[in-house]
Amino acid sequence: MNARSGLDGVIAAETTLSHVDGEGGRLIVRGIELRDLVAARGFEGVAALLWEGLGEGGGDADAVRAGLAAARERAAALVPAMLADAGHLAPIELLRLGLARLGDGEPMPHHYLLCGAAPVLVAAIARGAAVAPDPALGTAADLLRMLRGHRAGAVEEKALDTYLATVADHGFNASTFTARVVASTKAGMISAALAALSALKGPLHGGAPGPVLDMLDAIGAPANVGPWLEAALASGARLMGFGHRVYKVRDPRADVLKATVETLPVDQGRLAFAGEVAARAVETLARSKPGRRLDMNVEFYTALLLEALGIPRAVFTGTFAVGRMAGWCAHVMEQERDGRLIRPLSAYVGPEVKRAA
Ligand code: ACO
Repeated sequence: MNARSGLDGVIAAETTLSHVDGEGGRLIVRGIELRDLVAARGFEGVAALLWEGLGEGGGDADAVRAGLAAARERAAALVPAMLADAGHLAPIELLRLGLARLGDGEPMPHHYLLCGAAPVLVAAIARGAAVAPDPALGTAADLLRMLRGHRAGAVEEKALDTYLATVADHGFNASTFTARVVASTKAGMISAALAALSALKGPLHGGAPGPVLDMLDAIGAPANVGPWLEAALASGARLMGFGHRVYKVRDPRADVLKATVETLPVDQGRLAFAGEVAARAVETLARSKPGRRLDMNVEFYTALLLEALGIPRAVFTGTFAVGRMAGWCAHVMEQERDGRLIRPLSAYVGPEVKRAA
């Protein structure tokens, strides 16, 4: 019996939530193509769609908006104890700690609680202080307001809303699969979400956007692009924001986010430089990894979008978690409703049984 390394190509379960078409470069959420989904519905609308038939507020964007607003207010109480550890924990570790303070016995529906807590905690981590949420706003507008201390303009709020909606769900990625494994043991949604966040923080998954900007900074100028990329690949490094287990063509989320960055008053030089790095990276990867079909993934334009919104790099992964939390919760509810304990086999390749001396 052979194991599939990294469960590559293995179908681990059925889901009604989203489909990643790796060859066609399409993402479908509950029967709707990504590009039709995000502009029309926004984050709360996508969360309502994901939760439809699974949890309170499902199918009703207004109810979800009200539920998340109440949950943000509830979450404000988690901030002081979390910030007491700010001196010695990294931002994503602080978010993990803040969410861990939610008890399984909390009476508010846990999908609201988690999705309301994430933006409040992320903003407090970025600012090093609590900023009271505004229940009159949607998640994106309130997150930007809490991050800045004042309201952003409509275009910026819409851009962050599009981002959160775009990343809300994405098939059986590593963090979502993790959430489902934990949910399958009946450990509860809060434990499942914490486990998912722990998977998201790795640089091969949701931890990539900060390093994308580090790469652009390290390259520095157009003249360095080719030599820098060649040297990085020759040293065995991975180019952050490129490659995907499922997509063999460009990640469709990258196109949505590129179009969204272009709505913002961004430094055009920075965007043009990033575009040049991206094109050269794809070309260089095709040459150095023939047959691998490595293209741009969601994280490249995530980095540029969050930078253009003035969100600190330190909370890029946390901001990703604000959006993805909606999908994790939907998968936990689907797993709890339909699933069995997830307990695969392993192929034993250790030493053969020895006779007792
Ligand atoms: N840069 C350089 N080489 C790469 C990259 C990359 N970004 N991605 C894959 N490769 C190479 C690998 O080195 C490997 O080459 P080899 O066979 O010569 O050793 C080959 O392509 C296949 O790589 P795998 O690791 O088998 O591909 P896998 O499907 O496991 O990895 C992953 C997918 C982790 C996303 C990978 O492409 C990667 O590390 N990318 C960079 C990190 C990144 O952008 N992560 C965000 C992904 S999107 C998300 O999770 C939200």
